[in-house]
Amino acid sequence: NHAGETLPNEAYAEAAAYLTAQTSIKPEIGLILGSGLGVLGDHLTEVTTIPYASIPHFPVSTVEGHAGELMIGYLNGRPVVLMRGRFHMYEGYGPELTSFPVRVMQSLGVAKLIVTNAAGGINTGYDPGDLMLITDHINLTGRNPLIGANDDRFGVRFPDMSEAYSRKFRAIAQETAQASGFSLREGVYVGVLGPSYETPAEIRMMRTLGADAVGMSTVAEVIAARHCGIEVLGISCISNMASGILDQPLSHDEVIETTERVKARFLKLVSEVVTK
Ligand code: 6GU
Repeated sequence: NHAGETLPNEAYAEAAAYLTAQTSIKPEIGLILGSGLGVLGDHLTEVTTIPYASIPHFPVSTVEGHAGELMIGYLNGRPVVLMRGRFHMYEGYGPELTSFPVRVMQSLGVAKLIVTNAAGGINTGYDPGDLMLITDHINLTGRNPLIGANDDRFGVRFPDMSEAYSRKFRAIAQETAQASGFSLREGVYVGVLGPSYETPAEIRMMRTLGADAVGMSTVAEVIAARHCGIEVLGISCISNMASGILDQPLSHDEVIETTERVKARFLKLVSEVVTK
């Protein structure tokens, strides 16, 4: 993998040109799938699957449960580009590599992005298995993908983050869920570096700060997306309660088991939302 490397300027265009040559489909919506949620990829039609390792400049993801492939095809009739497996900063990638695929998607013509993740519930009213629309985020990673010289091809030096997660997209997601007979939480996602889970004291701090769920992804991708004008819908699957809430240790196995349970609802929500 390319952890620790920096990207040449042409990297985005080279990766996009490679992908464009693999299929005649022009994706309009990007999807980034979190731990255990990659199953959505099985529902694409006319699909072209491209392993990350074959894409110029693409990092290669290292986490279990992440296949590491990009798929271009139709989801419920809409042209999409989907990432099965993403890049986390805890793997050693800098924030600019973590968000590299977002800029590649933008170079492909994507203007709308759905980011999904498995997250720990901080809000004590939540239960494992809940789906939460991300209303906003708190970046506690201490990192930002836009550090360094600004790339004016993508956006401005000081991008606005006042509506990082589209109000309109959230309304569409709520309508979709209601029509399907299930409810969606709405809350604030706090992004941390990981890979260790938080201590109970850290979780109490995050709750005081206004966070409802915590995870190790998403914030760098969304910052890069907003910078280049992509509108974002964020969905967290509450895979477990965060530390100190229940009297039990946290494990990645629980994360995968819960997402397995939520799969059907998640699939229905996302495949309906893309048509709207
Ligand atoms: Cl409790 N913390 C973090 N940082 N990421 C998670 C999680 C908790 N549960 C799922 N992903």
